[in-house]
Amino acid sequence: MLLQVPDVLTPEQVASCRKILEAAEWVDGRITAGHQSARAKDNLQLREDLDEAKQLGDVVLAALESNPLFMSAALPLKVFPPLFNRYQDGQSFGNHVDNAIRQVTGTPHRVRTDLSATLFFSNPDEYDGGELVVEDTYGVHSIKLPAGHLILYPASSVHHVRPVTRGARLGSFFWIQSMVRDDGERTLLFDLDVAIQRLTGAERHAALRRREPGQARLHLIITGGQAGQREMTGLVALDLELLFAVHIREHQRDVGQDAANCIHERA
Ligand code: NI
Repeated sequence: MLLQVPDVLTPEQVASCRKILEAAEWVDGRITAGHQSARAKDNLQLREDLDEAKQLGDVVLAALESNPLFMSAALPLKVFPPLFNRYQDGQSFGNHVDNAIRQVTGTPHRVRTDLSATLFFSNPDEYDGGELVVEDTYGVHSIKLPAGHLILYPASSVHHVRPVTRGARLGSFFWIQSMVRDDGERTLLFDLDVAIQRLTGAERHAALRRREPGQARLHLIITGGQAGQREMTGLVALDLELLFAVHIREHQRDVGQDAANCIHERA
């Protein structure tokens, strides 16, 4: 699934982050590239151990945790501490696939990269080129989003960044280890979650209160409409506990409990 998550950061957050980004010291982006992608990579990056990078990374992580669309689509178990890059003067990143496992530098933590994310810090009119081009089973997608918006795509996708021929493209990139490794199953859960969102609060409460987990699940799928019905057979193979956990999260959100159960490991 390739998904745009709009307004992860407010314009005010983007502006204050950009002040820090523009004053920071940038180094060659090959420092975090694997052997193969190092040959394709030509950009600038903030060093991971830089205070500014950690400070900005915390802003991004906090924004993600409070973003229901991101949480629902990614079902994050771990989020790699966000990295920051800059393309200018014709810089680009040729076709590559991201590493399957990323070690968080200086820690024993490893993140399985199920999803890749790019958060844009520059607006499209500030630079020419710089599109993120992602190839998936449905074709080739060229992505250039407003500042503060994020694109989420399977980390197994072949992708590249086109040369920036005018201005500068500032962005953050990172990876997510999801509670659901398989993209198809995760997409299914997302569709289900979207269907549940369409129910009224009262319908949701009634379903969750009256029934056992398995029945509540089916009830919600059925009343959830098209998206749920379409995939009912596929759902049988999924982890029931996890499915119910997703519903519980929805329920908690309704009753005002803390829904931000994102577990991310920090350096
Ligand atoms: Ni990449």
